[in-house]
Amino acid sequence: MNRYRSFAVLALLSWLAACAETPAAPAPWPEPLAADADCTLDSTLVPGVPGSPGHLIRSSRNPNGDSELSALMRRFIDDLYAARAAVEAGKPVTPMYPTHRRMRCSWFTKPEERDALYDGMAQGYLASVQAFDATPSQDTYNAIINGCAACHSVKCGGPLDYIDGMRWR
Ligand code: HEC
Repeated sequence: MNRYRSFAVLALLSWLAACAETPAAPAPWPEPLAADADCTLDSTLVPGVPGSPGHLIRSSRNPNGDSELSALMRRFIDDLYAARAAVEAGKPVTPMYPTHRRMRCSWFTKPEERDALYDGMAQGYLASVQAFDATPSQDTYNAIINGCAACHSVKCGGPLDYIDGMRWR
């Protein structure tokens, strides 16, 4: 847990809107979506849910609170560390797609940034998550990290160094 504490301190020092360079403590939330639940760029987001504008999630990292998407990104990080550890230990991996696909219907810090460019890259990322869920391996894990980096090099550059550090070398 020490690691998370130093992340929190570093992130407080280097806080940059929603694009903090290092993540804070993990978010246990949210739940996986049902297989038939609608979640695309066309989905209308529900005002007032945790992480929506005016209802940011309380956070030790960000004095303004976290958006739904920021909290989800930190869940991605947790899930990937756990998935890699499971592969290394030869254990089964919990499928990530049902939770990660929420990224297409989550509130951003700035809601207008949820656009077609983002959604296209989200679909690419989610395809790599499905490939990993089907066949967990070092290669399919690193393909997910490529998807993180591809979107962040266009949309939100802050965490790129951190993302690079997640590669399984
Ligand atoms: C399709 C685009 C996209 C993909 C793929 C993506 N991100 Fe993000 N990420 C974003 C956006 C946009 C934000 C800003 C969220 C907001 O507006 O609140 C963000 C925020 C973050 C943050 C900052 C969270 C905070 O504490 O404020 C981290 C860290 C992060 N992403 C890491 C990752 C990692 C690791 C992956 C892959 C496992 C990933 N991202 C995949 C678009 C993406």
